[in-house]
Amino acid sequence: MPTLASSSQIPDQTGRTVVITGAASGIGRSAASALAMRGARVILAVRDQAKGRAAARDMGGRAEVRALDLASLASIREFAEGLREPVDVLVNNAGAMTAARQETRDGFESQLGVNHLGHFALTNLLLDRITGRVVTISSSAHRSAHIDFEDLQWERRPYRPFGAYGQSKLANLLFTSELQRRLAEAGSPVIATAAHPGWASTGFRITSGNRLFDTLVAFSTPFLAHGPEGGALPTLLASTGDVPAGGFAGPSRFGGVRGPAALAEPSGRTKDPGIARRLWEVSERLTGTEFPLTADAPAGPRTP
Ligand SMILES: NC(=O)c1ccc[n+]([C@@H]2O[C@H](COP(=O)([O-])OP(=O)(O)OC[C@H]3O[C@@H](n4cnc5c(N)ncnc54)[C@H](OP(=O)(O)O)[C@@H]3O)[C@@H](O)[C@H]2O)c1
Repeated sequence: MPTLASSSQIPDQTGRTVVITGAASGIGRSAASALAMRGARVILAVRDQAKGRAAARDMGGRAEVRALDLASLASIREFAEGLREPVDVLVNNAGAMTAARQETRDGFESQLGVNHLGHFALTNLLLDRITGRVVTISSSAHRSAHIDFEDLQWERRPYRPFGAYGQSKLANLLFTSELQRRLAEAGSPVIATAAHPGWASTGFRITSGNRLFDTLVAFSTPFLAHGPEGGALPTLLASTGDVPAGGFAGPSRFGGVRGPAALAEPSGRTKDPGIARRLWEVSERLTGTEFPLTADAPAGPRTP
């Protein structure tokens, strides 16, 4: 059973290139820093380049900063077009929660748009250059969520911030399982894995709409949650450890809240292949991107 108690235990990453979204802060920054320290070339895919450059300066090894706003399909395309070299691991880490309904540049409800659709498009656009893994960061919030195909973008229902967040995080896991199914069908050696950080004290803010609940969570987080280094352990395990295709990593103690990373069990809702396939098809239509590999051309970088 693969486990990870400290980032210093990850294997040597020399010669590997890892792209991490949202790596200017929190868990993404911590994971990028650990990978760079172990020899990886890390590409910090961030929306605020000054913040990204400051983070890169603090990292021990080779860290580069590139602009990526997951709330814009144009920015995602530009990022993918600018990255022509092979990528060993793509870590879909960035995420946000918003108290009121907002829209991305392309008119998607912002939590679904950034957390799921942005990473969906990014993965499809980079997949012919990825040689190892696609790792997507979900949350325990997926457990109480469901995908509402009749109102995916919260246009007809009263907006529930936590409901929208949970839906986007359930979408992350359904995406991982359908991506893995497609990779296997295409005969690709690339695998899809997922992780959740438990509860980590980062820049992330719960904005459930209930002010008392949000204040209590914000107040107790520094005392009860682990730090970004602990929150990054499941990401590092899913990115570098002996995790099976489609595997899900998370903290192993206190009901999955903190502690060393190990394999975790996602909710039953992530295991419905019909829902995963339907979400994939809807996401393809919304983003105008599709799975690029076929059994004839299963993997490997293509010459531009
Ligand atoms: N912290 C927790 O307890 C917890 C629990 C469950 C799941 N998670 C998940 O863990 C992941 C990392 O979160 P975190 O705790 O490290 O929070 P964080 O410190 O707020 O980091 C989130 C990162 O996502 C980036 N981001 C947000 N919107 C973006 C966009 N449109 N384009 C590009 N980047 C964007 C942010 O960029 P800026 O730096 O520019 O703001 C930030 O760097 C998220 O997917 C989150 O849902 C966290």
